[in-house]
Formats: sequence, C-alpha cells, structure tokens
Amino acid sequence: MKRIAVLTSGGDAPGMNAAVRAVVRTTLFNGKECFGVRRGYEGLIDGDFILLDRAAVGGIIHRGGTILRTARSPRFKELEGRRQAIEKMKEAGIEGLVVIGGDGSYRGAKALDEMGFPVIGIPGTIDNDISGTDDTIGFDTAVNTALEAVIRLRDTASSHDRLFIVEVMGRNAGFVALEVAVASGAEYVVVPEISLSIGRLCEHLNYSHRNKKSHTLIILAEGVMSGEEMRSKLSDTGGYEARVTVLGYIQRGGTPTSKDTILASRFGAYAAECLFLGKSGYMVGIINNRFVLSPLERAWTEQKALSQELIGLVEKLSV
Ligand code: ADP
Ligand code: F6P
Repeated sequence: MKRIAVLTSGGDAPGMNAAVRAVVRTTLFNGKECFGVRRGYEGLIDGDFILLDRAAVGGIIHRGGTILRTARSPRFKELEGRRQAIEKMKEAGIEGLVVIGGDGSYRGAKALDEMGFPVIGIPGTIDNDISGTDDTIGFDTAVNTALEAVIRLRDTASSHDRLFIVEVMGRNAGFVALEVAVASGAEYVVVPEISLSIGRLCEHLNYSHRNKKSHTLIILAEGVMSGEEMRSKLSDTGGYEARVTVLGYIQRGGTPTSKDTILASRFGAYAAECLFLGKSGYMVGIINNRFVLSPLERAWTEQKALSQELIGLVEKLSV
C-alpha cells in the first residue's frame, strides 16, 4: 500500500485534527503518501481530495473542529454513491482509508470494507458512546468545557439559593452528563440510559431543601428531554422554580485537552499502521491503556455501559 486517505465524518469533535495529523505524519514516516478527503463521505463521492504533506498538517494539533470539514451524506448510504467513491479513490491511486467519526460513520466504513476496499475507523465523537474503547476523541474536552461552565453557574446558584438545570449534549448517551455531574458535585444526573421518575427527583429536591443546601444542580442529558420541559415538569409536580442553562454546541468546540490530543495522536498513528499491515474492517480503541482492534460493527451491536459506580457516586456524594 503506497497511498492512503483520511476523512472526518459525522459530528465534529476536538482532537480530530490531531488524529488527521498523526495519520499523515505516520504515513510519511513510512515513506508513503496521504490524501485528505474534504467533507467526509460527500467529498469521497465527489473525489474532493488534497495531498497532505508534512506542512499541510503543521499547526493543527491544538485546533478544534476539523480542517478537512465534515458532512452528513445521504448519497453514501446508497450503493451507487459508494461505488462512485471507490471509483474516485482508485482513479487517485488511493488504496486504503482511515475514517474518523462515530458509529454512523462506521456503518459507512463497514459498507466500503464489504465492497473490498480497505478501511480502518478511529472513534471520534464527544458522546463517548462507542464500545471497544474507554474513551473517544473529544469526550474529555467536552466534559471539561461543560464543567467550566457549571462551575460558574454554581457560584451564582449558591449566591441565590437557586435550583439550576444544566442541559448538556448527549442525544442517546449520558457519558458527558455523568462525568460532568461527578466532576461538578451536582446533586442529580438525568441520562437516557436510566428511566426518569419526576416524583423521585422531587423527593430528592425536597430532601436537599430540608437539609438547607444552598443550591441544587441537576445535570440533564439533552436526549431525555429539554431543560425547559424539565423546568415545567418540576414546577407542575413539585412547585419548584428552576433556572435553565443549555450549553449546546459550545461543548463541541475549542482546543482539545492534552488527554484528547494524546489519545487522537495515538489513534491516528495506530490506525495508519494497521492499514499498512493489511488490516481492514476494524476500529482502533484503547482499553486499560492497551490498543485494541475491534470489528467496526461492535460500535452498533454492543451498547457501551455507563459506570454504575459513577451513577452511585452522584447519589452518595449529594447526601
Ligand atoms: P456519526 O458518525 O457521528 O455517528 P452520522 O450518524 O451522521 O454521524 O453518520 C455519518 C455518515 O455516515 C452519514 O452521513 C452517512 O453518510 C454515513 N452512514 C451512516 N449510516 C450509514 C449506512 N448504514 N450505510 C452507509 N453509510 C452510512
Ligand atoms: O456529536 C454528538 C452530538 O453532539 C450529540 O450529543 C448531539 O445530540 C448531536 O451531536 C447533535 O449534532 P447535530 O446537531 O450536528 O446533528
């Protein structure tokens, strides 16, 4: 394999650029060439490729977002779109592909692998909802960005004895919410993986009130309901008056933390090396600080479990 390509797909995540840089530099280190594909699978279908030399990925290691841009591509879900993408890569002499993204992007990667095109996936999503790795690129940064905001909210919440609902990202997964809750010392966390009882939450708030807590913080993953919806439910059921803050896309941007930068660099180098060794149809991961290769389909056939210990910790420490 002399020439490979790399793309970013799905939701962007801080650290994706560090992964792109590591794929490119590892390729060059091995005496081979690397193309960047612009706009994810959309660019793959259109042949939107750019040869990346060492300078092209200079100065991007700490930059958030993705210099290659990203896209959702309905065309790639069709066989015709994927055929065209393979055709374009063959025309450019590209023999293997690294896909950085979430489980949706892996489905696309798996489809390429099944059509005989070599592909390796790198887990890049702030949601951390991918089995086969302890952490995904961007998760640590998103948690820290949200935490910084919650720490500020805590100041004003305690000054006014207020109840705050902080809505964080996570349409289908509560990893961000749970870590933010533990790290911020929140009183309650609400995640998609655990069914919510508003009655039980009100009992908890009542308990906090009786214990004369100066403030109460609820961390809510957006996938359960909106902060506004929760505010009105708490008002209707328990007569509570809550303030709502939605952190939104702020959590997806910014400079990656050192943890994400290192993770992304390790993933990028390992993924390129796996391609050169002839592997295909796998995603790279790190579990207990060891590299792990898992079949791409692990991302959608195995649900990653939230830590029961952390869930218990939120309750225990908010006594
Ligand atoms: P993420 O990778 O963050 O989960 P998406 O779910 O939006 O993001 O998926 C990114 C892209 O992957 C989609 O826009 C589409 O082009 C491609 N994709 C998703 N599912 C499939 C599929 N079943 N077959 C082929 N391509 C897919
Ligand atoms: O990147 C993952 C994620 O941030 C989810 O938590 C969120 O629900 C989703 O992306 C929203 O992304 P978009 O609005 O770009 O589809």
